[in-house]
Amino acid sequence: MEKNFKRTLVTSALPYANGPVHIGHLAGVYVPADIYVRYLRLKGEDVLFIGGSDEHGVPVTIRAKKEGITPQDVVDRYHKIIKESFEGFGISFDVYSRTTSDTHRQLASDFFRKLYDEGKFVELESEQYYDEGEQQFLTDRNIRGECPRCHAPEAYGDQCEKCGATLSPDELINPYNADSGNALVKRKTSHWYLPLDNYQPWLEEWILNEHKEWRSNVYGQCKSWLDTGLKPRAVTRDLNWGIPVPVEGAEGKVLYVWFDAPIGYISNTKELLPDTWETWWKSKDTRLVHFIGKDNIVFHCIVFPSMLKAHGDYVLPDNVPSNEFLNLEDDKISTSRNWAVWLNEYLVDFPGKQDVLRYVLTANAPETKDNNFTWKDFQARNNNELVAVYGNFVNRALVLTKKYFDGKVPVCGEFTDYDKGIIDEFVNVKGLVEQLLDQFKFREAQKEAMNLARIGNRYLAETEPWKLAKTDLNRVATILNISLQLVANLSIAFEPFLPFSSKKLRDMLQYDSFQWENLGSIDLLSPGHELGEVSLLFEKIEDDAIQAQLDRLARIKKENEEANYKANPIRKECSFDDFLKLDMRVGTVLECTKVPKADKLLQFKIDDGLETRTILSGIAKHFNPEELVGKQVCFIANLPPRTMRGVVSEGMILSAEDNEGKLSLLTVAPTAKPGSEIK
Ligand code: 2FM
Ligand code: ZN
Repeated sequence: MEKNFKRTLVTSALPYANGPVHIGHLAGVYVPADIYVRYLRLKGEDVLFIGGSDEHGVPVTIRAKKEGITPQDVVDRYHKIIKESFEGFGISFDVYSRTTSDTHRQLASDFFRKLYDEGKFVELESEQYYDEGEQQFLTDRNIRGECPRCHAPEAYGDQCEKCGATLSPDELINPYNADSGNALVKRKTSHWYLPLDNYQPWLEEWILNEHKEWRSNVYGQCKSWLDTGLKPRAVTRDLNWGIPVPVEGAEGKVLYVWFDAPIGYISNTKELLPDTWETWWKSKDTRLVHFIGKDNIVFHCIVFPSMLKAHGDYVLPDNVPSNEFLNLEDDKISTSRNWAVWLNEYLVDFPGKQDVLRYVLTANAPETKDNNFTWKDFQARNNNELVAVYGNFVNRALVLTKKYFDGKVPVCGEFTDYDKGIIDEFVNVKGLVEQLLDQFKFREAQKEAMNLARIGNRYLAETEPWKLAKTDLNRVATILNISLQLVANLSIAFEPFLPFSSKKLRDMLQYDSFQWENLGSIDLLSPGHELGEVSLLFEKIEDDAIQAQLDRLARIKKENEEANYKANPIRKECSFDDFLKLDMRVGTVLECTKVPKADKLLQFKIDDGLETRTILSGIAKHFNPEELVGKQVCFIANLPPRTMRGVVSEGMILSAEDNEGKLSLLTVAPTAKPGSEIK
């Protein structure tokens, strides 16, 4: 089906305003969306880029409760931080608003009411967990209890973090309110549901037949939802934070956050363009594109389109480019575990280096599979690619022009065959980059842009203009003219990806009017055009800056381990008489050696205050024998002797073992005489 679109409406998932945004957000959603929008703008297309904060939902209320502040305080704080982070990284939204705005409350409420009035919902009664003490219904996330699978004591109503099982609150053993600790009872409540099952045949046709071009991860997830069969989904909740359900008798109920949030795309457009927003949302020639992360696929491909279809006035998404997840140093990014690179902190730690992160996140974009961010790779990509390839080419071309032609673009002479070959290579790139960007293949597109710089470097290395300056200045003029045209091209090719550096480069070139269609031209800078001041486009990142980040992560890992550490449960009671039967003593280690061919065993010679005794202990993996000599250790002195590997062991050395099996030797103050009894 040939589509004639006149404008493109790009949305990016509205992040929850319950914490700052991190590199996972940037890599998954905002950088790709921004690249796409900048590219379309450069092409002169009519495009709008909609963003905003998702300010309702349970996580906000949980955070508020934890900090003893109101949910509004929480979202005010994080909306500001998130908005500033996006501005800092040059995410070029046309509007960045919030779902607590009046425009949004009204529009979401009207949206619900229209569907309600037209009988598009079904009202169903169900039994939900209720806390009688607090007089409130609970959301899945607020219910905790014993996991039915692994019996971890504190699984959530929707998931067990210990074994990873997806759960429903009904499956939990002895459920309780995570906040109050109260046991829960079941109580009847009624809610409005969107009967997704009614939309199933339409969705199957629309997605599975008409949108085969969607990314395979998106298409595959939709197919699996559809194959399983859709069920009605509740669009209201019993909660006191959200948009009140605009129906009489629905006091204490709000719109489900996933009902109101995507409507935020519409309300934010309306806030920006109060008079013309409907052209963007209601004309069939608008192309709607949602950029999201993979956990949002079902909402953007199945639930929201069904809502839009039920409403009837709005356009449906034409594409939903969704990324997979980004890990950090081989571990899942997690807000609650503070395992993230926070964008607001990055901007402080690496001022002026927004493009470096944009570059690295695109180079490693999790477009088809989960990917990993490491600080070492970040450093290597900066030093070996941005500095050594792109920056180096630009710098050489500009510095040589300053040196030989007084900073003015020299006149181009005849092209050699080699020049022509280079120019051909260069010109082809435009089509390639375009094709890739049109298919949302940002990672490969950026690679192609970087290839332009590689071509430029190769050209300078092959032609060696610095060697020709004395003998053939005309040839040098041609080489530098071509090189400068390539540099100007780079500023266009990289504009969607690295907008800060492109701007810096254009300032150096004093080249400010440019468009995508100019890409591939080798007449961008006229002879005689004067260059501006030359500085380094990128700077090397030194080891200590990287080490500081790695140290921070190591600290966080340690803190998390400590916070999560739980000692093993106390054993069954033992009688005092039984305890007294053990004769525990202090001994001085006289000798300690590894037992040959027994990698676990250490052989001790101990002064026990009466004589020297031999004790074998299976702790060789944990200690270095030399370091134990001279130490005052504790041992059980009255166990029956045991023969191991032909050696008689007369006792047992005591050590403390944590629940991960790590050992610490039990020692006493050096003043304790050998043979002292431990009581
Ligand atoms: O997953 C999230 O972070 C959601 N806040 C995304 C919402 S996208 C849209 F529907 F607003
Ligand atoms: Zn479990």
